Amino acid sequence: MVLLSHKNPNNSLMMAIESSCDETAIAIIDANKHIYANHIFSQTDLHQLYGGVVPEIAARSHLEIIHQLTAHTLAESNLSLQDIDTIAVTAGPGLVGGLMVGVNFAQTLAKILQIPCYGINHLEGHVLSVRLEHDIAFPYLVLLTSGGHCQILAVRGVGDYHLYGTTLDDAAGETFDKIAHLLGLSYPGGPAIEKEAKNAKNLIDLPRPLTDKANCDFSFSGLKSAIRRKILQADTLDVQQVCDISASLQQAVVDIFKHKLNHAIARFHDDFLEQKDSIKIPIALVGGVASNQFIRQNLHDFCAENNAELYCPSPKICTDNAAMIAWAALEQKMAGHTASTITIRPRWSIHQSQENLADVKHQKNHGVKHYA
Ligand code: KG4
Ligand code: ZN
Repeated sequence: MVLLSHKNPNNSLMMAIESSCDETAIAIIDANKHIYANHIFSQTDLHQLYGGVVPEIAARSHLEIIHQLTAHTLAESNLSLQDIDTIAVTAGPGLVGGLMVGVNFAQTLAKILQIPCYGINHLEGHVLSVRLEHDIAFPYLVLLTSGGHCQILAVRGVGDYHLYGTTLDDAAGETFDKIAHLLGLSYPGGPAIEKEAKNAKNLIDLPRPLTDKANCDFSFSGLKSAIRRKILQADTLDVQQVCDISASLQQAVVDIFKHKLNHAIARFHDDFLEQKDSIKIPIALVGGVASNQFIRQNLHDFCAENNAELYCPSPKICTDNAAMIAWAALEQKMAGHTASTITIRPRWSIHQSQENLADVKHQKNHGVKHYA
């Protein structure tokens, strides 16, 4: 096959590798947001037998597939390795074995090709993913809801993230997965619950934990326990009950999200906007749970009623993928950040210390606006 050279000094080609959990993903994109390829190899079938992700099996599977997936991604893009200008790789948070496979592979390629390699925070990938497909300016609010995280952040710029609240126990996606398991549905639980919920007839009564607190923190474990109790009481569940429980869970999660976003909007106003500002507050809904159409629609309506505007990545960019890692690296590059030594960090938060907000408020009081 004849491979065309796509080297263009004004539009760098970024290839990214994501292997932090149970998906091996490779993507190639450019600075004009053109996605050449965005491939994901899911290991779901390998782990299903064990009822959860087995770290050693995940790492071995990443190692087995990563070369082949890279070759496939390049071929489909009609590109060769020599066309790639920069490499990006997820350096954390995640499972250490998978991260090691991805980072070693990426660094080796970068060394051979003599190009830079950016180590990207997976959460930063989700948080910035919304800008890959939408023109959403800084600052904006983010509800990041995935299998491992549930957080509300204010995003002031690239690398400038302020945590407003987080889950004190389980993440929303984890709750969907665990309830789906109790209901005998397939993994991952979110899509299965969404499907069953469409045939619900009656909603059951469920708690909305922490909605009595005027903050942006979440808790989902009480919701999970309440559903477990209902299931035990029922002894056996018929098909209709599975649908009703699924819809009730979805509704409870939406109500919790709305409640916490209300607090976040008030705080965002206080932190970032002038009194006279009447702009709609941009809110990004990102992470695997953001691919749920019921949640998207409900939060869209909520935003319309609260002088806010909801932005959601397309479903393939919500769940784990490498295009979002490539985009985060391009954002860093365009913001003038250079690639530095990569440290694998299985635990790695993205927010900076709250003291930075003092600086924001100071600038706000002196009439400096922050829209980029
Ligand atoms: O972002 P993601 O792919 O991986 C992590 O970073 O955790 O999120 C995976 C989570 C799983 O818990 C899955 O059940 C949930 O996202 N999820 C959904 C839907 N699709 C995936 N939850 C609700 N509704 C969906 N349609
Ligand atoms: Zn993720």
